[in-house]
Amino acid sequence: MGHRVCPWWLGYVLASPLRRLLQDPAAVVKPYVREGMTVLEPGPGMGFFTLEMARQVGASGRVVAIDIQPRMIAGLKRRLAKAGLLERADARLAPSDSLGLQDLRGKVDFALAMAVVHEMPSSSRFFAEVAQAMKPGATLLLAEPSGHVKKEAFETEVQDAAVAGLEVTGRPAIRRSQAALLKKPAN
Ligand SMILES: C[S@@+](CC[C@H](N)C(=O)[O-])C[C@H]1O[C@@H](n2cnc3c(N)ncnc32)[C@H](O)[C@@H]1O
Repeated sequence: MGHRVCPWWLGYVLASPLRRLLQDPAAVVKPYVREGMTVLEPGPGMGFFTLEMARQVGASGRVVAIDIQPRMIAGLKRRLAKAGLLERADARLAPSDSLGLQDLRGKVDFALAMAVVHEMPSSSRFFAEVAQAMKPGATLLLAEPSGHVKKEAFETEVQDAAVAGLEVTGRPAIRRSQAALLKKPAN
C-alpha cells in the first residue's frame, strides 16, 4: 500500500470541471445510486463524485463523505453549500486511525472508493470497516488510477476485500482506472 496522502491543494484540481473531459461522475455512479439510499464515500476530496451522488440520492437520501484532511472537508462543504446540497450530505473528518463508521453499521446501500485505497495505511482494515457498514446485498465500487496503482497492487486490494467478505461481481470500465464492483453477500 502507498500511504502517501494526496496534498490538499490537489483537491481543487480533482474537483475541477475539466476532469469531466476524462470522467463523467454522474455516469460512473448512476448504475448504483438510487433515490433514498445511504451512500458512503471514503476519501471524497473536494467532492467531484460527492455532489453527483447527493443529487442522485435525492432529498430522502444522504451521502456520508469522510476524509482525513480538514481542508478537503472544508472545500467539500463549500461546494455542497454552493450547489444547495449540504443538507443531503454528512461531510466528516476521519479519526486518525480509522474511518469512524460505528454509527453506520449495516446501514450503507452503496459505497464509492475512488482513488483512495492506495492512500490508506491498511487496505485490509479499510475493507473490514466498510464491509461492516454495508447492508447485506450492498455494493462497493472500488477504483484506482491506473497510472498510480499497477494491476498487481490493484488485485492485492481486491484480495483484501475478499478477506473482508466482499465478492467481485463485475469489472466496470472507468477511463484511466482499474475498477471492481464488490458485493456484500445477502444474508
Ligand atoms: C486522490 S484523492 C481522491 C479524491 C476523490 N475520491 C476523487 O476521486 O476525486 C484521495 C483522497 O483520500 C483522502 N484520504 C487519504 N487517506 C485517507 C484516510 N485514511 N481516511 C480518509 N480519507 C483519506 C485524501 O485526503 C484525499 O482527499
